[in-house]
Amino acid sequence: MPNKSFFIKTFGCQMNERDSEIMAQLLGERGYVETGDSDQADLIILNTCSIRAKAEQKVMSLLGVLRKQKKRNPGLKICVAGCVAQREGKQIIERMPHVDLVIGTQSIYQLTDLLDNLEDRPVVTMLSDDYQIPPFIPDLTAGPEQKQHSAVPFKKFLTIMQGCNNYCSYCVVPFTRGREISRKVSHILDEAHSLVEAGVKEITLLGQNVNSYGKTNVVSDDTDDYSFADLLRAVSVIPGLQRLRFTTSNPKDLSDDLMRCFAEVEILCPQFHLPVQSGSNRILSLMNRKYSRELYLEKVAALRAYRPEIALTTDMIVGFPGETDHDFEETMSLLEEVQYHGSFSFKYSDRPGTRSSEFTDKVDEALKSDRLRIFQARQDAISLQHNERYVGRTFPVMIEKVAQGSIVGRTKTNHLVHIANTFNNFLPGEIVSVRIIHAGQHSLRGELLDQDQQ
Ligand code: SAH
Ligand code: SF4
Ligand code: F3S
Repeated sequence: MPNKSFFIKTFGCQMNERDSEIMAQLLGERGYVETGDSDQADLIILNTCSIRAKAEQKVMSLLGVLRKQKKRNPGLKICVAGCVAQREGKQIIERMPHVDLVIGTQSIYQLTDLLDNLEDRPVVTMLSDDYQIPPFIPDLTAGPEQKQHSAVPFKKFLTIMQGCNNYCSYCVVPFTRGREISRKVSHILDEAHSLVEAGVKEITLLGQNVNSYGKTNVVSDDTDDYSFADLLRAVSVIPGLQRLRFTTSNPKDLSDDLMRCFAEVEILCPQFHLPVQSGSNRILSLMNRKYSRELYLEKVAALRAYRPEIALTTDMIVGFPGETDHDFEETMSLLEEVQYHGSFSFKYSDRPGTRSSEFTDKVDEALKSDRLRIFQARQDAISLQHNERYVGRTFPVMIEKVAQGSIVGRTKTNHLVHIANTFNNFLPGEIVSVRIIHAGQHSLRGELLDQDQQ
């Protein structure tokens, strides 16, 4: 009998991307083969995101399309995983009989066992407070992970914690990912070592709020007093690892010790995603973010003092309930003050079960759109100004993709660089010296320096 094939479609954040890789590896170990063509698959997994209403609608409409595919191919198995599965599992099972399996965010490691016992169509929606992330060693040398999911096996994500305890008033994540759980230090270090031994040069440590790593669990085998900064230092000394990044951080838990790592840990890349969400103290308080604009700005100043070339990015929400013109002006003035290298900005979206969904003074959709446009236009201009400052300078760029006459790589600051003179045969993961010759809003163009100029 030929091997069964599977197709995974991933929505949402890097946590989901990593979870999809884990599911792909588990399926590969059970003899499944990954296919890039969903029409050919015996098993389709949607790894879903619930962060804004639009993200969830995308999943629901794709499930509608899959209903037709299942009619054509009754042997097809359809699995919904991720944050929508966690939040809406019961309704999905009830309303969508073509879905075979709904699997919650804490249950991905049980995927293959659940598939083996599909008869009962399990609904895995309960989150557990004493859940532990099991040890997991990625297999980059064989199986589907290398072929499909890791088009770039020289850089990998490594999940260090799950869940979130912060309950920002607009956010669904504490309900979809459960309570914050930190992985054991030894499990993380084992995984990091195995990645580097397999040739990985860049690791990004992942969690919803990595700054609170270690605060909620006994995570180390011999001590329970182990911070995220300690973890960063421990990973950074793995021989062969060249670049280290992490995401994402709630500013309220950003310690001086961690900020100092930007000065002291050489392979820690000068890049920091520090979501602020609003520039208005009144809105920050309604959001339950637990820091003020002033405290945030102090941290930005400290980070820039420790590592002057650091590229800061952020997340911003416009149109939070009750956001006045004045509040929005505060957001715009924060953007002017910080001068982010880039940002992800969103219109506030009501999420069921969150506190802000009960707030009454919702902002009109058209006004939200106007504010988003204004914010994004200004951010684009600031990003371009930053990028123009790179022109004429030379940076080490890690090659990411080499395809038909075009090479794309990244600087340590995480800027995408298109490399013009592409006569050399480089491999992804190689680091080359590139002089920047042109700046766009979202990427740079550069040329390779001759060997003797390097
Ligand atoms: N843990 C991260 C956020 C992860 S969610 C942090 O605390 O920074 C990614 C981003 O989605 C958030 O930073 C926020 O900007 C946005 N977001 C979350 N919930 C939202 C909502 N209800 N409406 C609009 N944007 C939202
Ligand atoms: Fe959501 Fe806030 Fe947790 Fe980030 S810190 S995941 S925004 S609740
Ligand atoms: Fe979305 Fe869940 Fe990530 S809601 S942003 S996939 S944690």
